[in-house]
Order: sequence, then structure tokens, then C-alpha cells
Amino acid sequence: MRDPAQTVMRRIEALARISDEPGRLTRTFCSPAMRKANKLVGSWMRQAGMKVRQDAIGNLIGHYPARDQKSSQLFLLGSHLDTVRDAGKFDGPLGVLIAIACVQRLFEKKTRLPFAIEIIGFSDEEGVRYQSAYLGSKVLAGTFSRKALTRTDANGVTMAQAIRSFGGNPDGLAAARLDPKRLLGYAEVHIEQGPVLEQKRLSVGVVTAIAGQTRLQLTFTGRAGHAGTTPMHLRRDALCAAAEFVLAAESLAKNRTGLVATVGEITALPGASNVIPGHVRLSLDVRHPKDAVRQAAVAELKKRATAIAAKRNVGLDWQPVHQTRAVTCDRHLSSLLSKAVKHRQRKLVLLHSGAGHDAAAMADTTPVTMLFVRCKNGISHHPDESASVKDVRIAISVMNDFIRLLN
Ligand code: GLV
Ligand code: MN
Ligand code: MN
Repeated sequence: MRDPAQTVMRRIEALARISDEPGRLTRTFCSPAMRKANKLVGSWMRQAGMKVRQDAIGNLIGHYPARDQKSSQLFLLGSHLDTVRDAGKFDGPLGVLIAIACVQRLFEKKTRLPFAIEIIGFSDEEGVRYQSAYLGSKVLAGTFSRKALTRTDANGVTMAQAIRSFGGNPDGLAAARLDPKRLLGYAEVHIEQGPVLEQKRLSVGVVTAIAGQTRLQLTFTGRAGHAGTTPMHLRRDALCAAAEFVLAAESLAKNRTGLVATVGEITALPGASNVIPGHVRLSLDVRHPKDAVRQAAVAELKKRATAIAAKRNVGLDWQPVHQTRAVTCDRHLSSLLSKAVKHRQRKLVLLHSGAGHDAAAMADTTPVTMLFVRCKNGISHHPDESASVKDVRIAISVMNDFIRLLN
């Protein structure tokens, strides 16, 4: 008899070979790799008895019908199929593949439920291409803002163009929203991306809440010039302003418990060793379990950036590009998930997620719950990210039980 956990591990490896960059795993929103990944995962969904479609934003959706064809009720499972740059293999795909394993089991046992199940492979959770995360889940939750469609990627391609060339439809995004009246809830399995389960020597844990996040794009504009002839006191160096800001953000976050602030991307232009940088664009990601603390930190960082720009006589453009509130997982769904965990593992542990997840966006339209799977050495957003086949097997069993408890 086939072992569903081994199947999930094999599929994780197969997906990890689908990348936009040679030699490392990078799969971004509406890219050629994403097209291939959707095709492959779609074939696995079909093998599990599902009807497969791709929606207007490129989400891959598998539908497993209800016992009574007339029932319009839906329970949602899933996670994302996009990745960060030079990513680990498990962040995102694990949740989609475990969901498929659960539906495969129902299909093989010829079991239908009173409600249909839809598995979603979200097209963008990480926000690498447009720095605006949860694009796929926001469309399904009906919270996508059309303003985002004019955002451009590093090559000047607008989001609307990217969606169109992927086969999506930027004018059909509002209609792609899932009708909240049909939804019973959403459950997501995800690698923990932190060390707690490993420290507690447990395979899985139930998530109680997901931290809110703010992502911004800052641009410092000074004046480019000759690196050999322009005296230091006459320079308006945009990269020096950015550097000062990066350290200010680090220092603020270090002084506030639970606050994290990250500048993860920076571009200095025109970009030559003998030219003073005139134009610097950087990302800023700020998170805290409490929305008020995060918002106050963002306001404080804006003040500091403004002061740095004024002191150095450079311009500052401050653009919030993404904001989500902290989300509490649904009490009822999480109690069912906890019951399933207690059945398969000696101890139940409840965790808070500092990482963002599609569940946070889906919480705007339906109750959500999440199961975390132990992460080797707590490493994530890195090629060393790893989960064991044993823990994946336990996670599949927990989700099978959870689905049964939903009945
Ligand atoms: C997603 O992985 C995030 O938390 O940024
Ligand atoms: Mn991630
Ligand atoms: Mn993820």
C-alpha cells in the first residue's frame, strides 16, 4: 500500500525542481515556473478525484464534490505555491500537498462529505514580485485592491500585464471572490518556520494567532555624481541615507519587545563603483503580535526616515504597499484541530505565528485554523528548510481526523 507521506515528500522534491532561476528555488507570482507548478499540482488534484480550475489571479483550485450535488457549502484547504528567492521546499507546497493527500484518501475510500472541499494553491503569498503579499487569498476573500494592478515589477511589468500574460483576468478579480455564504472555513497546514516544536520534541502544533504585518517601499532621492571629483561635503548620497535608515529600523525594533523590522531588498542606482548613488529603493517589513504596537512603530520609523532625509538633503518617498491586521484563529475549528492533534500526539501545543499566511487574508471572509509542522533547526526562507517524513505522516493523519470531525 502506498504511503501518502512518502508521496508528499516525492512531490515536494518534484516541485522544488520547478524554478524561475537555475540552481535555486525561486517561483514568483505569474511566472513561467508558476505556470508549470500549477500544471503539475493540477494533475495531482485530478488524480485525487478533483475538478481543477485556475481563477482570475492564477490561484489553482481543485474541487471535490459534496455527497449531495445540490449542496453549495464549501470547506477550504490549501496554502501557497509561490516562494521567496532561494527558498526552502516546504514553505507553501507542504500545505497544498497534505490537503491533496487527504482528499486522495476520501476519493480512494469513495467517501463524499455533506459539503464540497476545495483545495487552493494560492498564486502569491510571499509578495516577491510586487512586494504586496497575499494577492491570491485577497482576491478570494474579496479584499484585493485594484490599485495594486498598476504596481510594476523589477522589469517594469505591471501586475495587470503579468496576470493577463499568465492567462488570468485583471477585470475578473472582483467576480473571482468566493461567496462567503458558501464557506464553512479554511484550514492550512504549514511548516512552522521557527524552533518551538523542535524544542518541545513534538511533530505538530495548533496555531492560535497570526501576527499582522506592514510592508513599505521607501525611496531616497539624492544626486548622482562623480565618485572621484565630488567632495564629501557636497554630496547628496541616497545610499548613505538608506544605510542610516536601515540601522535606525534595527535599533528601534531591538528596543521594543516582540517587534521585528527588516529591510530585505535594496537597489542603488545608477549602480556603479565610481558613481555616487542618486536613487535608492528599499523594502521595509514591520511586524508585531499587537497591531497598535506595529502601527506606532511604523509611524516612528516614518519620522526617523523624514529626519534622516532632511539632514542629508535628499528626498523621501514613503509608500505603504501592504498591511494586514493580526488575526486570531477560529475557536471552534481550532478546538476540532486540537482534538485531532491530541489523538495523534502525546501533547497539544498552541503556537503564535510570526510569519504571515494565506489564512490571515482568508480570515476576512471565513473562520480559519492552522496546523504547524516541526521545522528542522527552525530554519525557513532558506534552502536548508526541512520537515521529516514522520512529521508529515502525523500531519496527514491529523488532517484526516480533522476533516472527519467537521462532518
Ligand atoms: C511569509 O512567509 C511571510 O511571513 O513573509
Ligand atoms: Mn514564506
Ligand atoms: Mn508560507
